[in-house]
Amino acid sequence: MSVYRNAIWFLNGVHHYTRKGYEAASKDFELRELDVSVVGRSFMVTGANSGIGRATAMAIAKKGGTVHMVCRNKDKAEEARVDIVKESGNTEVYVHVVDMSETRKVWEFAEAFKREYIFLNVLINNAGCMEHKREVNAEGLEKNFATNTMGVYILTQTLIPLLQKSRDPRVITVSSGGMLVQKLRVDDLQSERGYFDGLMVYAQNKRQQVVLTQQWAKANPVIHFSVMHPGWADTLAVSTSMPQFHQMMGERLRSVEQGADTVVWLALSRAAARTLSGQFFQDRKPVPAHLPLAWTHSSTEEIQTFMTQLETLARAVQSRSDPELNVP
Ligand SMILES: NC(=O)c1ccc[n+]([C@@H]2O[C@H](COP(=O)([O-])OP(=O)(O)OC[C@H]3O[C@@H](n4cnc5c(N)ncnc54)[C@H](OP(=O)(O)O)[C@@H]3O)[C@@H](O)[C@H]2O)c1
Repeated sequence: MSVYRNAIWFLNGVHHYTRKGYEAASKDFELRELDVSVVGRSFMVTGANSGIGRATAMAIAKKGGTVHMVCRNKDKAEEARVDIVKESGNTEVYVHVVDMSETRKVWEFAEAFKREYIFLNVLINNAGCMEHKREVNAEGLEKNFATNTMGVYILTQTLIPLLQKSRDPRVITVSSGGMLVQKLRVDDLQSERGYFDGLMVYAQNKRQQVVLTQQWAKANPVIHFSVMHPGWADTLAVSTSMPQFHQMMGERLRSVEQGADTVVWLALSRAAARTLSGQFFQDRKPVPAHLPLAWTHSSTEEIQTFMTQLETLARAVQSRSDPELNVP
């Protein structure tokens, strides 16, 4: 059954997630929707030195926005920043060195950012990873989960008060269509049981991002939340984490700009802000977060258990308080 379901998902992907899928979908795009200036608005993009994140940061800089690039590698980040400033002519581009897999560091960064800056209009949770070997971070959290779920959770939760104070606040999370074959699992968040399949752990994390977005939207009506699938784009993550897939898809993969298009639209356009908060997007349209006839829906209890576990983990990290940080 799961082989049959995955095959249907893949065929659907070949149709919609590829370059051709983008070209077909983009015929319906309203080009004027991105004819905006965002001078004076502030955007944080995680993983902004490469691929979809870099293309997003570049597009925002070209529209005049202030960009906070959150990257783990200082040299790669600086190199990307220089390129973005040069090509966009916008000098309001800043680098913050943070490894999103280091839960406590993410929290410390978010707290410090909140103290230093008086507003943040848009947070773009883009950084993501697919590790095929099970490893844990300093807090004992499995690294895919730490980066894709816990990093996103703790950064967003900590910045919500700042976003709430800002005009037209938005949070966009870059998920993946791969999450469609996953139901939220709440009994093994650290993937400690059974065979460790990095691809499925990644897809589970991407489902968790969709659930998180729906919950945040309900809890924070002032902020516009969205989560999206970029399609299959030719990036380092794909060529290194899924080399066979990368080789098989070749020229059919989207460019990074095509992959970033919906992120940019969700971040910049007025049309995006008019959509219902909490939805899953593909090519500038809200799409179902479940396949037809799928059993991937979760009960209210399962979602509550998941949210409680995340909050408990976050509090455990925060409770080991650092006197120098001076946070409660
Ligand atoms: N490309 C696709 O077809 C596709 C499809 C579905 C979803 N996505 C999602 O798109 C997002 C962007 O990926 P991409 O395809 O653009 O790949 P990419 O070019 O490899 O970019 C990934 C970015 O995330 C950063 N990153 C990874 N782990 C990090 C960490 N622990 N701390 C801080 N930054 C970290 C990377 O930094 P380094 O340069 O230092 O490694 C890089 O900047 C990811 O969330 C991915 O899951 C991509």
